[in-house]
Amino acid sequence: MDSPYKADILKGKVALLTGGGSGIGFEIAKQFGNHGASIAIMGRRQQVLDSAVSVLQSLGIQAVGFVGDVRKKDDANRTVESTFQHFGRLDILVNGAAGNFLVSSEDLSPNGFKTVMDIDSVGTFTMCHEALKYLKKDGLGKKSSEGGGIILNISATLHYTASWYQIHVSAAKAAVDAITRNLALEWATDYDIKVNGIAPGPIGNTTGMSNLVPKQIDIGAMDLIMPLFKLGEKWDIAMAALYLASNAGKYVNGTTLVVDGGLWLSRPRYLPKDVVKQFSTGLPNSKL
Ligand code: HXC
Repeated sequence: MDSPYKADILKGKVALLTGGGSGIGFEIAKQFGNHGASIAIMGRRQQVLDSAVSVLQSLGIQAVGFVGDVRKKDDANRTVESTFQHFGRLDILVNGAAGNFLVSSEDLSPNGFKTVMDIDSVGTFTMCHEALKYLKKDGLGKKSSEGGGIILNISATLHYTASWYQIHVSAAKAAVDAITRNLALEWATDYDIKVNGIAPGPIGNTTGMSNLVPKQIDIGAMDLIMPLFKLGEKWDIAMAALYLASNAGKYVNGTTLVVDGGLWLSRPRYLPKDVVKQFSTGLPNSKL
């Protein structure tokens, strides 16, 4: 699908994306690149990174991949430093790396819980921490006339209520949202860095979605509870990311933008509309 934005809205910017080799992270990387940014992607698997980088380069995007695990501080440090060495600056950090699997709370080991917390929450904080000296106003590689950079944390809506078999991810994403708000307060004030999040709903053709909705489940049945009656596309998330990363979102700080078609608000309709009309006095002379 074509982008509604001008092709140069991220011209001259350098973006580093964890989990940028596949899924939603890769789509954001591609769209940022299509809109002028140079791209560094970080992930655990060399092969996945290599093929993602060659796709990006085939689109004319300046791209490089760094193997690393956000759970390891040294990997985080090396990736941020290598990005700076390669491109000479860093403007945008997208924390997309995440772990996920379906498991009931009683079957989840404390180490399984900790593993997802370590990737999603501690990993996000570690990357932010390592990137601070480059992202901040007057940071390394920045001209004095420039403002600070942007952080985007990929979250979820699971923890707004409660989610079956997702206690670890719900807890981890709740912490991510807290990181978003606290850094937005501290680092916008002190360093002119804007920190926002995106909470995707169910997005088609992603590992997260295949993990959460096993093949045995008829996805068509979800139409019954989803207001927009369809899965989202990776493109939807990338367009939201472009808004927040570009000047269009210059006054947005500390928010997590929900991009889920309204799914998290939905609940079963407990009375059919024609039944409720029998109880309702309605508007006078209403033709509805
Ligand atoms: C139960 C599990 C498990 C599973 C891992 N564990 N997988 N427990 N069911 N399916 C437990 C292990 O038993 C172990 O605890 C601990 O977690 C660490 O497991 P390891 O396999 O040693 O860890 P590791 O190799 O580091 O891999 C963990 C992982 C992996 C990264 C979470 O499972 C993974 O790669 N998952 C896929 C990543 C993914 O889905 N990415 C997309 C995210 S989308 P014990 O006690 O046995 O030592 C997303 C969207 C969220 O997050 C919301 C959308 C709406």
